[in-house]
Amino acid sequence: MSSNLAAGEQPVYNYNVVRQFAIMTVVWGVVGMAVGVLIAAQLVWPELNDIFQPYTHFGRLRPLHTNAVIFAFGGCALFATSYYVVQRTCQTPLWGGFLIPFTFWGWQLVIVLAAITLPLGYTSAKEYAELEWPIDILITLVWVAYAIVFFGTIIKRRTSHIYVANWFFGAFILTIALLHVVNNMEVPVSMWKSYSAYSGAMDAMVQWWYGHNAVGFFLTAGFLGMMYYFVPKQAGRPVYSYQLSIVHFWALISLYIWAGPHHLHYSALPDWAQSLGMVMSLVLLAPSWGGMINGIMTLSGAWHKLRTDPTLRFLVVSLSFYGMSTFEGPMMAIKTVNALSHDTDWTVGHVHSGALGWVAMISIGAIYHLIPVLFNRKEMWSVGLVNAHFWLATIGTVLYISAMWVNGITQGLMWRAFNADGTLTYSFVESVEASYPGYFVRVLGGAFFLFGMLLMAYNTYRTVADEDEATSAQPQTA
Ligand code: HEM
Ligand code: HEM
Repeated sequence: MSSNLAAGEQPVYNYNVVRQFAIMTVVWGVVGMAVGVLIAAQLVWPELNDIFQPYTHFGRLRPLHTNAVIFAFGGCALFATSYYVVQRTCQTPLWGGFLIPFTFWGWQLVIVLAAITLPLGYTSAKEYAELEWPIDILITLVWVAYAIVFFGTIIKRRTSHIYVANWFFGAFILTIALLHVVNNMEVPVSMWKSYSAYSGAMDAMVQWWYGHNAVGFFLTAGFLGMMYYFVPKQAGRPVYSYQLSIVHFWALISLYIWAGPHHLHYSALPDWAQSLGMVMSLVLLAPSWGGMINGIMTLSGAWHKLRTDPTLRFLVVSLSFYGMSTFEGPMMAIKTVNALSHDTDWTVGHVHSGALGWVAMISIGAIYHLIPVLFNRKEMWSVGLVNAHFWLATIGTVLYISAMWVNGITQGLMWRAFNADGTLTYSFVESVEASYPGYFVRVLGGAFFLFGMLLMAYNTYRTVADEDEATSAQPQTA
């Protein structure tokens, strides 16, 4: 890429905020997944609900888990990587002055407020948008600051073109702003209670337009930005096809926004809207797989590195899970398949093949790439521990999602089984009993994944603390 830097000129990047977000990714990853393991255990041993009633009830901890893993763990990973990538690929330090630390401290405040208010039972009852209106306003302020910093840096860039990773990060930032503001239109009735401005089917439609695009833009587009930078960097190869990345970008962002109604099949939503959601979801397979192929093929000529580089393994395996969940999603969007899968653990399995396999694995890979660079070390304190983490995460994910597939299909089939006289063959409780072994296996899978995160936290701590390993030989340009 051409640049207007003078020969030998090295931009001084702002790594401070990247370091802060990278460390907090690891911290919130451990916290969010520990809550995940706890709620998974509550579904096996219900007595665990009673530890601190009502604050530790499943109903209160579940949104705490989803908010912690998506917005705290995933959010910090996105802030860290987007701030790093935009500086390096634009060859200019972050722009925005005090707005930069404001995004870090503001986002941590949002997370702490969520961790306090959700167990206390304050919720707007919209999935993935549970936080009450004062926190929604704070999120808006932080997000606007984030957009100013990110796009300000792009405007100030010293390169001629904008690298594709920034297109994905940019689309993620803009779309999340729109989704957050529209879905959280609400009427406050007290400091910690508000009601949605929408009602009935309209409320459901807006909520799932938000919910699905939170998946498409928060859990996908931003992480694709990560893929386009960290996979080529770690593999030491250029992106497989730059042309494909452009087609991938425009196809993905123009299709995702229409698929939300697949969350509302067989509901009061007009039938045409449900069918449109189904068709657009099927079409979405193409750009999703285009992106996955572009990422995986970037390894052409560098496959041997997988034998020795566990960080690269995290990145590549995350793409395989991305491919898997974006094949499964369109299938589940077909109305007849959804009639079986909806409301069962199949959905939860699908969610975690995306969440653990794709989102968490690519974030972990990117953070393992970043920590040594940010703290001026040659490599992580223990590459062996990175390898152990990789296997724990992979085995944990496979245990989790296969248990949920078995449970989901069992539940779906049991719920729809009829006797000759038209009565139900199984009671609901019988389907819960049949799910018990799967719930146990999920706790096991979750514990594997969490243990891997604890190894990561320890390895990160040792890497940062180990002054002897410091090296000044880090390149400063992208
Ligand atoms: C140790 C790892 C994890 C464990 C043990 C775990 C466990 C759980 C459990 C037990 C539920 C509730 C399922 C139910 O209501 O039946 C859940 C829901 C959820 N989790 Fe996790 N989780 C983990 C990691 C993650 C990560 C890393 C993410 C996202 C990046 C994530 C995103 C979600 C979402 C979005 C839901 C809601 C699913 C739905 O409504 O269908 N989880 N998780
Ligand atoms: C082409 C891509 C995808 C399509 C078409 C798709 C489609 C679907 C469908 C049909 C459902 C079930 C809706 C229901 O019956 O209630 C679903 C649920 C879900 N998917 Fe996907 N999916 C895709 C990719 C992903 C990825 C990559 C992730 C995560 C990173 C993800 C996260 C979720 C979540 C969190 C839910 C649960 C929402 C809830 O009920 O709380 N999806 N998806």
